[in-house]
Amino acid sequence: MLLDTYGRRAVDLRVSLTDRCNLRCTYCMPEEGLSWLGKPDLLTDEEIVRLVALAVGSLGVREVRFTGGEPLLRPGLVPIVAACAALEPRPDLSLTTNGIGLARVAGALRDAGIDRVNVSLDTLDPGTFARLTRRRRHQDVLDGLAAAEAAGLRPVKLNTVLMRGVNDHEAADLLAWAVEHGYQLRFIEQMPLDAQHGWDRTRMVTAEEILDLLRARFALTPEPAARGAAPAERWLVDGGPATVGVIASVTRPFCRACDRTRLTADGQVRNCLFATGETDLRGAMRDGADDAELAELWRAAMWGKKAGAGIDQPEFHQPERPMSAIGG
Ligand code: 5AD
Ligand code: SF4
Repeated sequence: MLLDTYGRRAVDLRVSLTDRCNLRCTYCMPEEGLSWLGKPDLLTDEEIVRLVALAVGSLGVREVRFTGGEPLLRPGLVPIVAACAALEPRPDLSLTTNGIGLARVAGALRDAGIDRVNVSLDTLDPGTFARLTRRRRHQDVLDGLAAAEAAGLRPVKLNTVLMRGVNDHEAADLLAWAVEHGYQLRFIEQMPLDAQHGWDRTRMVTAEEILDLLRARFALTPEPAARGAAPAERWLVDGGPATVGVIASVTRPFCRACDRTRLTADGQVRNCLFATGETDLRGAMRDGADDAELAELWRAAMWGKKAGAGIDQPEFHQPERPMSAIGG
């Protein structure tokens, strides 16, 4: 088991498959991109599968989410998914993607064992998309969404980050569009995880503001189902069955219920998105550590998990690695 001193148990593993991305979202990275990890630093497909197998077989992990950067850029994605789907007990498998290239591989991913996808979509307007992501790929994302739906990767979830003066006027339009297409939309408060350290608390669109923007057009009632460890607070839209989620990572953090553990593309365990330290499983593995030794390192990494990230506290320090190198 992956326990910590606050009584939490990590059962949800996020695996970053690459730190690279084919978009350049302004809230994530600079125009020129970042200095990407080199091939020798990345875990191999076999190393990833070994660590996931350890997490699922010996450490109590029940859900595995593949992230990036952009995970569809990892050549071995489909075989990695297939190997993870063959584990006992079979973990729940999902993918967080920007949707580019998803149209091509949605069917193969489903066949390999992916259960659900989360696709990032911040705008319905191709021009705004190009300004926000610095790439003209809006249609690719829409095609990817349609393909995921057609492949049965349901419910297809949408992640949206609102930025003041950029796309915040689209909040209600995005929800109407998502409801119409049967996609489940979740808004995420912008977090201080950008590579260029440009995050500004006063410019962030808060969960309260998002709810106000939505209430101008929809009736929102709290979803009766328990929230559990899910970070999104969910609301029924106009009485349901459609729902909308708001992830208030900054203004209403959900650290007390956190059930996550993270593995970076270069084989470091992080016990929190905002952790300042990491545990090197890659080095241990390449030095010949056996599964029992790796499991012990992973358990120790989680035992040291702090109570919370404390983004809204004055002593908060942004972690060294940006979101794209940690995995969302
Ligand atoms: N704050 C909040 N969400 C972010 N994402 C990327 N960077 C940030 C940030 N700084 C989102 C992406 C994607 C998911 C993995 O996290 O838009 O949907
Ligand atoms: Fe790429 Fe996601 Fe960062 Fe956008 S937010 S640049 S899609 S990693």
